[in-house]
Amino acid sequence: MPTASFLLTPNHSLQSPVLAASGTLGFADTTEGLVDFAEVGAFVTPTLTVNPRLGNPMPRTVEVTGGLIHATGLPNLGVEAFVEQDLPRLRKLPCPIIVSICGETPEDWEQLGAMLERTEGVFALELNLTPLALHEEGFVQGAIPSESESLSRIRQALKAVRAQTRLPLIAKLPSVGIEIGLAAKTAVDTGADVIAVGQAFPAVAVRLSSRELRLPYVVGGLSGPAIKPLALYQVWRVRQSISAPIIGSGGIMSADDAEEFMIAGADAVAIGIASLVKPSTLANCAKRLRYSPQMSQ
Ligand SMILES: Cc1cc2nc3c(=O)[nH]c(=O)nc-3n(C[C@H](O)[C@H](O)[C@H](O)COP(=O)(O)O)c2cc1C
Repeated sequence: MPTASFLLTPNHSLQSPVLAASGTLGFADTTEGLVDFAEVGAFVTPTLTVNPRLGNPMPRTVEVTGGLIHATGLPNLGVEAFVEQDLPRLRKLPCPIIVSICGETPEDWEQLGAMLERTEGVFALELNLTPLALHEEGFVQGAIPSESESLSRIRQALKAVRAQTRLPLIAKLPSVGIEIGLAAKTAVDTGADVIAVGQAFPAVAVRLSSRELRLPYVVGGLSGPAIKPLALYQVWRVRQSISAPIIGSGGIMSADDAEEFMIAGADAVAIGIASLVKPSTLANCAKRLRYSPQMSQ
């Protein structure tokens, strides 16, 4: 019978190529009985920072045609409190824990890498490399950093974390502002073991009746079916540029969608908002990929 494990590195394998994407299930504290984590390759935490963050004012999410625009501002208690308060509970899940991190400076990235390297129960780190992630006010007047700024940020972050840890490093690339193949190659050349693509795309929602922009800081990230073809392009393009494993996400709502990502070149998939709509999606995708012809080759 075919099995479908997913190798992050030759020494780090996951039981399934289907991951719970960062942020959408929170810290798994409200999903009791809804998601079958025994079927899931890994649970990726919401992004953690060195210092606690309150997050953005409400509303933080707006439903739009084809998806959800979100601008959480990365609320979290800070990495130390996470290790003390959330990780002991997460470690009881029947799947490995991947911790998502984001730093503003190289020192932040170093601190996050060093702290998590010596923490039991952390399987891998995912570096959230989207610059907008740390700007509560969206893209600083809507601006997207230049390609050279983005590349330098990718290099700085990976170099800093790699120097502190031997844990597998997943580079979750920004969805705009950079040629995705070049970004992936840069990340791998600087120490990433795995590339994740399909981060949310910058977006704005308008309420016509009141002629208002709906999010307090205007710009958010669009996730859901609307971004699936864009994310599939990213997977395909990254596959042309590197041979390292790829985790694809972006609008996977069904097992058919998950299989499309594998055909485009992904080695694993991450499921975000589908888990909010239908929590069984993770397990359904895992079951399908276990038996898909691609996985049994
Ligand atoms: C409410 C919400 C919170 C999110 N929080 C994070 C986060 O903390 N870190 C991160 O890297 N991505 C975050 N994401 C992005 C998802 O991990 C995923 O990459 C994106 O939503 C695309 O996948 P999907 O269309 O399946 O949701 C968040 C998405 C949503 C909808």
